[in-house]
Amino acid sequence: MLVLLEPDFAALSRQAARIVAGAVRSNPSVNLGLATGSTTLGMYAEIIRIYREGSLDFSDVTTFNLDEYLGIAPDHPQSFHFFMRENFFHHINIQPARTHIPDGMITGDYEEYCASYEQEIREAGGIDLQILGIGRNGHIGFNEPASSLASRTRLKVLTSETIEDNRKAFIPGEKIPECAITMGIGTIQDARRILILASGETKAEAVAQAIEGPITASVTASSLQLHPDVTFIIDEQAASRLKHKQYYRRVMEMTALLDEKPQR
Ligand code: GLP
Repeated sequence: MLVLLEPDFAALSRQAARIVAGAVRSNPSVNLGLATGSTTLGMYAEIIRIYREGSLDFSDVTTFNLDEYLGIAPDHPQSFHFFMRENFFHHINIQPARTHIPDGMITGDYEEYCASYEQEIREAGGIDLQILGIGRNGHIGFNEPASSLASRTRLKVLTSETIEDNRKAFIPGEKIPECAITMGIGTIQDARRILILASGETKAEAVAQAIEGPITASVTASSLQLHPDVTFIIDEQAASRLKHKQYYRRVMEMTALLDEKPQR
């Protein structure tokens, strides 16, 4: 694992955008796994800024989003479809047909639908770079505590903590989704490279558990310890409970001096 400590949200967003832009430049037909959530907003804004400078081309890029609320239509302002259109896709030259987000309006055979989402990822050649945020309880995607660490895309019931966290985005009195379709931990583990972002004090405990705690289905982000190419990008507040912060800082300094691919 590589742990990059950034002073604040703006620096974290720039660093994440640099890595995504680098992935698109080195492979114009890269398959990106994308995430939603406020933590990713700065990164998307920065990628759009780089794109407008003229150095990025998304016309051959394919994307697969991690998750979507169940029962929320794509034009609902809190849907992840809406989030992606407003905050990213509408601002770059990506082909809409190359973007994939689980369908929150699916009814009937969920298993068959989720299997077809997995199939689409496989047919595209798998995900090259997966972006993740982290929930307060340490979830990635909507893989809540006790999710199988081998799970695939499926329907998940959200914890009351996650429902509460999501409530602030909805209009008071509006029905808050209690379920979502999410890539599984096994799906995420199949990505060739993973970038996970965390910002703010509210994420500090989840980040400490994910990086330095035991691998456990109770904190599904801890499963990333098993992946060979994971980069955590976290700001000072989110890093505040890490025990080995000084060491991560030294690795960053040495890596810059050696001008080498950072150790994982
Ligand atoms: C939701 C999403 C996650 C995201 C998390 C954190 O639970 N399913 O993918 O990482 O929110 O969101 P935020 O960045 O807004 O804190």
